[in-house]
Amino acid sequence: MVYLNGEFMPIAEAKISVMDRGFLFGDGVYEVIPVYSRRPFRLPEHLRRLGSSLAGIRLDNPHTAEEWTALMGKIIAGADSDDQQVYLQVTRGSDSKRNHAFPALVRPTVFIMSEPLLAPSAELCAQGVSAVSAADFRWMRCNLKSVSLLANCLLRQLAVDAGCTETVLLRDGFLSEGSSSNIFAVKQGVLLAPQKNHLMLPGITYDVVLELAAAHGLKYEVRDVLEEEVRQADELWLSSSTKEVQPIVTLDGRTIGGGRPGPLFAAMFGWYQEFKQVVMRGG
Ligand code: PDD
Repeated sequence: MVYLNGEFMPIAEAKISVMDRGFLFGDGVYEVIPVYSRRPFRLPEHLRRLGSSLAGIRLDNPHTAEEWTALMGKIIAGADSDDQQVYLQVTRGSDSKRNHAFPALVRPTVFIMSEPLLAPSAELCAQGVSAVSAADFRWMRCNLKSVSLLANCLLRQLAVDAGCTETVLLRDGFLSEGSSSNIFAVKQGVLLAPQKNHLMLPGITYDVVLELAAAHGLKYEVRDVLEEEVRQADELWLSSSTKEVQPIVTLDGRTIGGGRPGPLFAAMFGWYQEFKQVVMRGG
């Protein structure tokens, strides 16, 4: 069951117009919210980021936080899995003609669906994943969670073509993020996190990683991270709502930290799993 513009229906029955601006222009925003044991994780934070993305593209929020929460509650209750990823999208609706300018009367398209959430296995996290790097050729508003993801898709495909998991994006000699994740580096026992700005998505999982670092006394710095610091890192991690935290052990075919996940990742993995068990599942 999915939600589309006021109604719940089977996904095969959910249809939108070919004139929808999400389809024609990528004119919309989205969220992906992880759900553990049927509890959405950090929903207020995800809804706040949705609000910022909508404001950033000058589209009124069609629902209050209470309304979003109720709609999502129904989607979560109707899905098969206890652990889910809820996808929520709002576009600027459709117009009678294709026109770049906003329609005079905007009726947004609102869509919500749920898919099973498969957490990365302990084996994967013990083994690590590989990545390639690429110049970040996206626009200057990467802080908005826009559905215009063509650049991200092209960049991700570079990783797929190389048999890798993620593409680490570098802009003007600095780390921005991954094609669909945030990236951290570790150097000499210090966790380095790029500071939130218009060049990266302010990840909810990124916040969790830094909170766990602070809670457990792991030293961290939030600042610009140089490309060189990425290439010469002792450890590299990626984070996202659907991938949790994973260690990157090769970058462009060269090993990071000897090609095995490092000790700080092992610690963070443990803290994250404990946090998931106690807080995310426990409510
Ligand atoms: N992507 N950066 C980018 C470009 C992303 O697309 C994502 C998440 C993140 C991590 O944000 P968070 O921790 O809030 O999930 C960072 C989602 C999962 C997606 O597009 O499917």
